[in-house]
Amino acid sequence: MDLGQIFTSTIVAKYMVSLLNIGLSSSILDPCFGDGVFIDACLNAGYTNISGYEIDSKLFDYVKTKHPRLKLYNGDYLRADETIKYDAVIMNPPYIRQEKIDELSELGISKMALRSNPIFSDLPTTANMYMYFVIKALKMLNANGKLVVIFPSSWIKTRSGKGFEKLITKQALIEKQIHINGEVFQKNALVDVVIFCIKKTKESSNRDIIYLNLSNNVITPRILQSPTRKLITNPVPFRIYANVRRGLTTGANTIFINPPLKYKNQYVTGIVSSPKSVSGFSTSNAATDHLLWLHGEKKSFPKDVQDYLCQCEKAIIDTHKPKTLYMKLQQRSPWYELPEIDSDGIWFSYFVRNDMKFILNTTNVLARDNFYIIKPHIDSFLLFALLNNFYTFYQLEKMGKKYGAGLLKLQRYDIENLLFPDISNISVSDKEHLIRLAKHMVDTNEDMTAQITTVLSAYMNCTFNEICKDYTKIKQQRLEEKQCQLK
Ligand SMILES: C[S@@+](CC[C@H](N)C(=O)[O-])C[C@H]1O[C@@H](n2cnc3c(N)ncnc32)[C@H](O)[C@@H]1O
Repeated sequence: MDLGQIFTSTIVAKYMVSLLNIGLSSSILDPCFGDGVFIDACLNAGYTNISGYEIDSKLFDYVKTKHPRLKLYNGDYLRADETIKYDAVIMNPPYIRQEKIDELSELGISKMALRSNPIFSDLPTTANMYMYFVIKALKMLNANGKLVVIFPSSWIKTRSGKGFEKLITKQALIEKQIHINGEVFQKNALVDVVIFCIKKTKESSNRDIIYLNLSNNVITPRILQSPTRKLITNPVPFRIYANVRRGLTTGANTIFINPPLKYKNQYVTGIVSSPKSVSGFSTSNAATDHLLWLHGEKKSFPKDVQDYLCQCEKAIIDTHKPKTLYMKLQQRSPWYELPEIDSDGIWFSYFVRNDMKFILNTTNVLARDNFYIIKPHIDSFLLFALLNNFYTFYQLEKMGKKYGAGLLKLQRYDIENLLFPDISNISVSDKEHLIRLAKHMVDTNEDMTAQITTVLSAYMNCTFNEICKDYTKIKQQRLEEKQCQLK
């Protein structure tokens, strides 16, 4: 069962305790203490009035044996008595995506059960588990109490995240927002995190936004790169020229991808699973997997397909996994039917490892959720050129999240935040030139990125040489991290 266990490193725990800035006799709660890293850090700092919850009995026993005198409880914090108040809460709440919350029903935790508590009624239904923990912790603070919390920062830029932030600021003040990079957790976890210092008060004041780096057990201020150049004078936002969505999520790749059937064309379809499967700038030579593609009643399929479905059904029922398919089976709905996802358009990888590139789907094949699918509202080759150039790559390098080892993760909103020159200002001959270059790229797989960048530079605020220099530098920084980690 996924309890969202990601353990904080000792150095970060010590730093977070230093942010509490309260008297040593204050009462402190860690609502999900794991292996007790915050408890140890609080004790080392001289605090003694410490309480905690932990749902995992093994971890609870380990910490309780170490600290028998502390008020530690083995149970679900989200059901803790809210009338008990603390001077401070310090926590690293569980990382459990909203889709996974119902998988904890054995422990009495489900979205429905959570929603029956009115304190959570204003949270969006898509709220991740850590959001419930933050709201509950705020409820259990005394007036002027402090909450120091470390959690993923991915929500900050999203629309639902803004709602979550409003919920916090309705009852408290976010004093500090500390973005921290590096070895924050005991095992390298692929998440970008932020520490919030929150005070339960009606006072208001400016929020300190701080950027730190943690390396070799030393926390240092992070030198921010220069702000993104103003590349374009009157930029046009992405949404005017295109829209974007993720490719197909099967929910159970072992069942749906390359099923062990004697392939009958009408029961499988081609799908490109990974950017590694695509060489060049179109899907023409892409290696495809077989996706089980069934629509209709089970009895209408040939015997080997029916046998395969029965075998999968048995495994799903025995293990109750994957949860979504199990629920569909319970409701007797055709669990094997996947949604139709139109994959036509221009693809971009969810993770970038080395070079960036946008790919045109020329073979009407499906894309898995390792890709974004971009649907042009303008000529697709013109959009292809607006995407495959150093001005766009530079913006994406700036916006993406670096995960070390050269890995850059792009969220959908990063792509939606791209800015382009206004195509109505581009001369007819330059537009034709861009389209020719894009077609050449797609047809021959020859990289025309530099040539496209040259044509576009006439409509940008920075020259071809400047953007090449800036882009090379920012990309090199990312890839150098990879070299360091490989050493
Ligand atoms: C992200 S880990 C953090 C652990 C520890 N505080 C640290 O920072 O290393 C979250 C912890 O919450 C526990 N947990 C998950 N759901 C819980 C719940 N409903 N009530 C209490 N603890 C829970 C997990 O078992 C896990 O140990």
